[in-house]
Amino acid sequence: MPSGIPISCCFLLCLFTGALGGDPFVFYDWTVSYITASPLGVKQQVIGIEGQFPGPILNVTTNWNVVVNVKNNLDEPLLLTWNGIQHRKNSWQDGVSGTNCPIPAGWNWTYQFQVKDQIGSFFYFPSLSLQRAAGGYGGIIINNRDVIPVPFGTPDGDITIFISDWYTKSHKELRKDIESGVDLGAPDGVLLNGIGPYRYDETLVPDGIAYPTINVEPGKTYRLRVHNVGISTSLNFRIQNHNLLLVETEGSYTVQQNYTNMDIHVGQSYSFLVTMDQSASSDYYIVASSRFVNSSAWARATGVAILHYSNSQGPALGPLPDPPDGSDTYFSMNQARSIRWNVSAGAARPNPQGSFRYGDITVTEVYVILNRPAELIDGKWRTTLNGISYFTPSTPLKLAQQFNIPGVYKLDFPNRLMNERAKVDTSIINGTYRGFMEIIFQNNDTTVQSYHMDGYAFFVVGMDVGVWTENSRGTYNKWDGVARCTTQVFPGSWTAILVSLDNAGIWNLRAQNLNSWYLGQEAYVSVVNPEIREKTELPLPDNAIYCGVLSSLQKDQAQRVRFSDAPSVVYASRTVLAAFIIAFFGTFIR
Ligand SMILES: *[C@@H]1O[C@H](CO)[C@@H](O)[C@H](O)[C@H]1NC(C)=O
Ligand SMILES: *[C@@H]1O[C@H](CO)[C@@H](O)[C@H](O)[C@H]1NC(C)=O
Ligand SMILES: *[C@@H]1O[C@H](CO)[C@@H](O)[C@H](O)[C@H]1NC(C)=O
Ligand SMILES: *[C@@H]1O[C@H](CO)[C@@H](O)[C@H](O)[C@H]1NC(C)=O
Ligand SMILES: *[C@@H]1O[C@H](CO)[C@@H](O)[C@H](O)[C@H]1NC(C)=O
Ligand SMILES: *[C@@H]1O[C@H](CO)[C@@H](O)[C@H](O)[C@H]1NC(C)=O
Ligand SMILES: *[C@@H]1O[C@H](CO)[C@@H](O)[C@H](O)[C@H]1NC(C)=O
Repeated sequence: MPSGIPISCCFLLCLFTGALGGDPFVFYDWTVSYITASPLGVKQQVIGIEGQFPGPILNVTTNWNVVVNVKNNLDEPLLLTWNGIQHRKNSWQDGVSGTNCPIPAGWNWTYQFQVKDQIGSFFYFPSLSLQRAAGGYGGIIINNRDVIPVPFGTPDGDITIFISDWYTKSHKELRKDIESGVDLGAPDGVLLNGIGPYRYDETLVPDGIAYPTINVEPGKTYRLRVHNVGISTSLNFRIQNHNLLLVETEGSYTVQQNYTNMDIHVGQSYSFLVTMDQSASSDYYIVASSRFVNSSAWARATGVAILHYSNSQGPALGPLPDPPDGSDTYFSMNQARSIRWNVSAGAARPNPQGSFRYGDITVTEVYVILNRPAELIDGKWRTTLNGISYFTPSTPLKLAQQFNIPGVYKLDFPNRLMNERAKVDTSIINGTYRGFMEIIFQNNDTTVQSYHMDGYAFFVVGMDVGVWTENSRGTYNKWDGVARCTTQVFPGSWTAILVSLDNAGIWNLRAQNLNSWYLGQEAYVSVVNPEIREKTELPLPDNAIYCGVLSSLQKDQAQRVRFSDAPSVVYASRTVLAAFIIAFFGTFIR
């Protein structure tokens, strides 16, 4: 934990908790800046957090309060978003353009949120301007509280692995390409943990680039948390001669099953238990290779790391372990369907995950959302959902709602494709508070899409090739479909999700594929309790940044810091109290 206040001492934490009558706080100070790295042997600017790429891991426990002071040392506005964190009642902290004004270059802003009722493996990343293509991501781990058993033995180690397609072009150059309708083409490589492949093939991998090594002990079992943080490439993850025992995905414990490989789509996260049960006669390959592409240009799109037993006799041998056959939707879809929720395991709460019987709940609203490949709208390349390409207003939706500013957005997102003529608009979904929404994503493109919803976990109840019809509901899994926050939609196929709209706020619904998102494939879902808004949503944070039509409310940041009028009374007193308790008991314990 590089710069948070170390909270290794449980005694101190308990006192702190007791003193406030609440849940523990953890503090981080993160500077986000460009650093120079050569992941594929070519020097380039990447986005680092505290000088690290990937950034530090946010390692917390259910219900902890997280305070992250983010200093933007980039040359562009910045927001970090917390992929999969539900921010209950608190879309103010979500860090997307519809909820927050961007942190201007040179400014800092402090996020404060609680990881309420959540467990599992997630990640954070910069949400604006395609910045994730330059890095800036890091892991989030939410541990079970001690009182709730984890449905497997404590692993001997916990290892986070980021897999991603990677281009040696900067995110600014990639932006220009996307805006001009240029296909990104095959990536220059696939990274594991921000570095390039092991030289498994002398023609494909240049000499002298650093590669990742995962060091393990024979006989031990590790939890691998694998995140696809890339731009747009689905990746198949596998380890030579080792089984991947799937145990968790995006905050849900799954039925535990062995896989020899797993297709991980953009924005998805999985936990596997891997037992080091092979002979140490050699090292082993860890592979992340591109899927759903089959030209030779993609041969370079293979990431390779080394699994090194402490008593290993030598380097990894033989060819890389085989990917699944071809780029077969059938295989991948069946694999996705085989992922089930463990309905009897507890998670953030002691009651079994399956005690929320989603299959018995009546659906109150249905959206069939159709994406299309990029097209020219009024002379600009745009992507659409139901014929609408999202226009980002200069005033975030959430602030416009708070200050009753008319005309920023319309609550009229259509529940089907109504009009073949595409348009650019700020049209969002009017969700019903405590409603139960069914969304069918129909993929009208030739590439795999993945969709993410902020503020919620949704149940993935069905997917199939072809066009969804009412009859497709007969195939839904109404019992143990897994609850997660990002789902894939195969080319020419559909995926259906169910989501309980119990979290008031304005929530982003987006394509995780950066090129699709950047050109407009996103919408928001507004969920308002018409009766008592105060109780169902937290108030506007005192440190909120203002922009757009509210710019005049914004004080200059230098003054804010100098006259220290920024933090709220509650926030300031907690911080001071925390510092006091830590200082006092820190001395006492020593
Ligand atoms: C996360 O923190 C817990 C203590 O709260 C510690 O036991 C665990 O090893 C940490 N995990 C990682 C991956 O740092
Ligand atoms: C910026 O950081 C300073 C401390 O470095 C802090 O006091 C202030 O509250 C932060 N500003 C915001 C808006 O979070
Ligand atoms: C599901 O969770 C239960 C309760 O923790 C556990 O005992 C069981 O092994 C899990 N089942 C499977 C198939 O993973
Ligand atoms: C998974 O594979 C391992 C061997 O790698 C085996 O020991 C274990 O029993 C398998 N577990 C299940 C649930 O199939
Ligand atoms: C793979 O190649 C086949 C035949 O060469 C082609 O029909 C198919 O569209 C290709 N698939 C992808 C995903 O490029
Ligand atoms: C949004 O939905 C609510 C019911 O949930 C309804 O009362 C309201 O009129 C709707 N607003 C618009 C603009 O359609
Ligand atoms: C895409 O949508 C158009 C119009 O809605 C339809 O005619 C076409 O068949 C669809 N194509 C695919 C691949 O789903």
